[in-house]
Amino acid sequence: MSTRIETIRAVKGTRDLLPEEVFLWQRLEQDARRVFGAYNFEEIRTPILEQTALFARTVGADTDIVAKEMFTFNDRDNESLSLRPEATASVVRAYIEHSLYNEGRVHKLYYVGPMFRRERPQKGRYRQFYQIGAEVLGADSPLVDAEVLEMLVEFLRQAGGVGAGEFVLLINSVGCPRCRPEYLKTLKKALEPVRSGMCADCQRRSVTNPLRVFDCKVPADQPIIANLPTIIDHLDAECRQHFDRVTAELTQRGIEFQITPRLVRGLDYYTRTTFEITSTTLGAQDAILGGGRYDGLSEMLGGPPTPGFGFAIGQDRLVLVVGETAKQSANPPEWKESLAAYIVWLGDNALGAANELTRKLREQNLKVAIGFEPAAMKKSLGMANRQRARFAIIVGESELAEGKFQVKDMSNGQQEAVEAGRIPEYLKAKVEGSKIPSTP
Ligand code: HAM
Repeated sequence: MSTRIETIRAVKGTRDLLPEEVFLWQRLEQDARRVFGAYNFEEIRTPILEQTALFARTVGADTDIVAKEMFTFNDRDNESLSLRPEATASVVRAYIEHSLYNEGRVHKLYYVGPMFRRERPQKGRYRQFYQIGAEVLGADSPLVDAEVLEMLVEFLRQAGGVGAGEFVLLINSVGCPRCRPEYLKTLKKALEPVRSGMCADCQRRSVTNPLRVFDCKVPADQPIIANLPTIIDHLDAECRQHFDRVTAELTQRGIEFQITPRLVRGLDYYTRTTFEITSTTLGAQDAILGGGRYDGLSEMLGGPPTPGFGFAIGQDRLVLVVGETAKQSANPPEWKESLAAYIVWLGDNALGAANELTRKLREQNLKVAIGFEPAAMKKSLGMANRQRARFAIIVGESELAEGKFQVKDMSNGQQEAVEAGRIPEYLKAKVEGSKIPSTP
């Protein structure tokens, strides 16, 4: 009697991205590299595994991310490690660890990769998700904030399908360590009479970290939160000036935004500018990206004072938005590069010539497949169709004898005998849509 072996499934909140879907992911990554490259950003790759203290100290021990959502474990030598829930802290750690500040210039760094948060999975929210992010280290000018936001808007435009009006830039200032303590006193005072009517998290936070009350998603708390004093009304002169310059620059660059006084974001390291871009396409998890300024983060990690500004795009969410917009378009873009040709070889004698042709076509960077078994014509053409090949090239005994192979256009069934040596040139011209070279 055979015992049934249970199958193993992907871990909750993680997913496999199958090739059909990955094409769009790759396209967005290429777009990001191109657009960020034009703004002189360079790629940095940091480890997925970090010391837990890195996030506790920067993102903040009282944030949802650190208090509830990290995948944390004790390594064999009893060191507490965590899968990174975000990458800003890692980038700043690397900046300090490699003394990049000694180079005496502004560093513009970007990254692409998986992050991990143990959240309740739903559409657009996963436990392993992907971010495309960027950080500018070493400049506190409001022009940095404006340039990065301009780059984001340009990226979203080039990423395709994200038309103006579908996304909204929300912006706020959360002040700095000079003006925030005074505001926090005011906020605490305002919370005192109302806190007993709030959720357990808010009751605790109103004492330990009152700004975090603004992260609360509990519906019953929202009317209370709507009446609390906001930081943007309590900025000191320098923070106010910084914010006004950022918004003036955005206006000057033709970038629309909404000032959102309760946007504090769920991470403790922010100073001054904070922002999010939301999309109407996304539903509940509507933030495509978020970011802001974090001028004290380097010092929190024992580094030299280094202003910082950056963002992270939720790639999973961007894929949803771009995919959805493409579906609704009259002329949906083709993310996947189609197979240029499927090579059909009829009998062992044809294999050598078929292999040689396949190699020559691939040398021209044409996407080509060849069967691994000798197969009859009908079956082979069926295979070419299933792989959505644009052409099938038939190499059989009579074709070998003639030195010409049949090139069949799979879209209309028309077929033409082409001299073996000319096929790469012929196919390239067809695939690239240019003129077919005339026969000498
Ligand atoms: P964050 O707002 O925590 O910021 O995340 C940025 C984006 O990542 C979100 O807007 C969202 O699109 C995506 N995201 C977050 N959690 C999930 C999830 N569970 N599933 C799918 N997507 C998710 C940061 O991470 C900061 N490090 C951004 C930053 C960079 N600030 C300054 N520099």
